[in-house]
Amino acid sequence: MIGLFESMARPLLRLLDAEDAHRLAIHALKIPPFVKLVADDPRLAVRAFGLNFPNPIGMAAGFDKHAEVPDALIKLGFGFVEVGTVTPHPQAGNPRPRLFRLPRDQAVINRLGFNSEGAEAVLRRLAARAGAVSVPEEVETESLRLTRLLRRSGAHVAGQGGIVGVNIGANKESADRIADYVRLIETFAPVVSYFTVNISSPNTPGLRDLQQAKVFDELTARVVEARQRVSLQAGPTPVLIKIAPDVTLSELDDIVGIARARRVDGMVVGNTTVARPPSLRDQKIAKEPGGLSGRPLFELATRMLAETYVRAEGAFPLVGVGGIDSGAAALAKIRAGACLVQLYSALVFHGLRLIPGIKSDLSNALSRGGLAGIDELVGADAAAMTAEPWPQ
Ligand SMILES: Cc1cc2nc3c(=O)[nH]c(=O)nc-3n(C[C@H](O)[C@H](O)[C@H](O)COP(=O)(O)O)c2cc1C
Repeated sequence: MIGLFESMARPLLRLLDAEDAHRLAIHALKIPPFVKLVADDPRLAVRAFGLNFPNPIGMAAGFDKHAEVPDALIKLGFGFVEVGTVTPHPQAGNPRPRLFRLPRDQAVINRLGFNSEGAEAVLRRLAARAGAVSVPEEVETESLRLTRLLRRSGAHVAGQGGIVGVNIGANKESADRIADYVRLIETFAPVVSYFTVNISSPNTPGLRDLQQAKVFDELTARVVEARQRVSLQAGPTPVLIKIAPDVTLSELDDIVGIARARRVDGMVVGNTTVARPPSLRDQKIAKEPGGLSGRPLFELATRMLAETYVRAEGAFPLVGVGGIDSGAAALAKIRAGACLVQLYSALVFHGLRLIPGIKSDLSNALSRGGLAGIDELVGADAAAMTAEPWPQ
C-alpha cells in the first residue's frame, strides 16, 4: 500500500495546492484495505504515561485534525496517532491560502488557525471507533449525553486497537479559554488514550500567552483537576502539554517547574516556530506569516527538547517533535530526551515509506549498541547538548 501511494499519488499531490493535496491524502487513506506491513521489533516498544506503545513513532497533530483516519495511520505503522487540534465549537480557521510548502528547505509554513469540525463531530468518530456502545439517534448530536453514555459503558480505549490521543485547543472567540480545555477533557476522556493541551499554536492570537507562568499555573491546575474528576468514570487519561520552541529559557524554567508541581503527565516539545532561520532558501514563501515546520525546525526544537529534559529530571516523559525526517533525526530526538517522537512535515516530502525506514534505522542502532530497548538511549546526549552554543 505504501509503495502504491508513493509511486502514484505523490507526484500528483505535488502539483496541487498544499491544502487540496492534504485533503486528497486523507481521502486516499479512507480507502480500505489497510494491512499492517510487518510486526514491530519488540525492542522498539515503549511504555510511557501508563500506555504501551508498539513503537515510538507518532503522527503529529494537524494531519488528521478531525479524526477521519487514525486507524489507517496505525495500520500503516505509526506507533500512535494524535488527532486534532479539536476545538469545542466548529470553526473555519483563517482564509485560504494558509498552507505553504518550501520544497528547497523541506519545510512547511501553516497558518490554518485551528480549522476544526468541532468536538461533536470528532467525538462521534472516536466513539464509533471505540465501538463500545451503539448510540441512539436522539443523543448523537448531544456530546455531553453521549459522553455520559460512553462512561456508563466503561468504554475507555486506553490503547486498545492502537493508541490515539486527541490534541485540544480553545475556540478563537472563547471568553474563557481554560474552560474550553476543561470541557474537552470531560468530553473526550472516555474515547481517547491521552490528551495534548495545545497552548503553542502561533495562529490563534493570544493562545501562546497561556504559557506565561501565572495563567499556565491556573491552566494546569484546572486541566489536571478535570483529568482527576473524569478518571473516576473514564479511567486514567494522561494529560500532556505541548509548548512552542520559541519560549525563552527562563519561561521554560517556569513552565517545567509548574508542570512538575501540578503533576502533568508529560510534555510535547514542540510546535511550529514563528522564527525564520536566515538559512532558508525559499525566502519569498518564508515571508508568509504562520508557523514553520520541517527540517529547518530540527535544531531549535531538539535543543528545546534537551533543555526541557534537563529541567524535568525524569519527573515525566517527553515527546520530541520538529524536523524529524530520518532515522538519524529520530535517534537524535531520543538522545536529546524524548521517549516518543512525532512527525508531520517530512511526510509531505518523503511520503509514508519514511515510517518503516525510521523504525528499521532505530532497530539497527539498538543492535549496534547491544541495547535491549529505546529507554536505554533516552536523554543520553541531553546534558552535552545544553552546553553547546545556541543553534542559529
Ligand atoms: C499543516 C500543519 C498543521 C498543523 N496543525 C497542528 C495542530 O492543529 N495542532 C498542533 O498541536 N500542531 C499542529 N501542527 C504542528 C505539528 O504537530 C508539529 O508540532 C510541527 O509541525 C513540527 O513537526 P514537523 O517538523 O515534523 O512537522 C501542524 C503542522 C503542520 C505542518
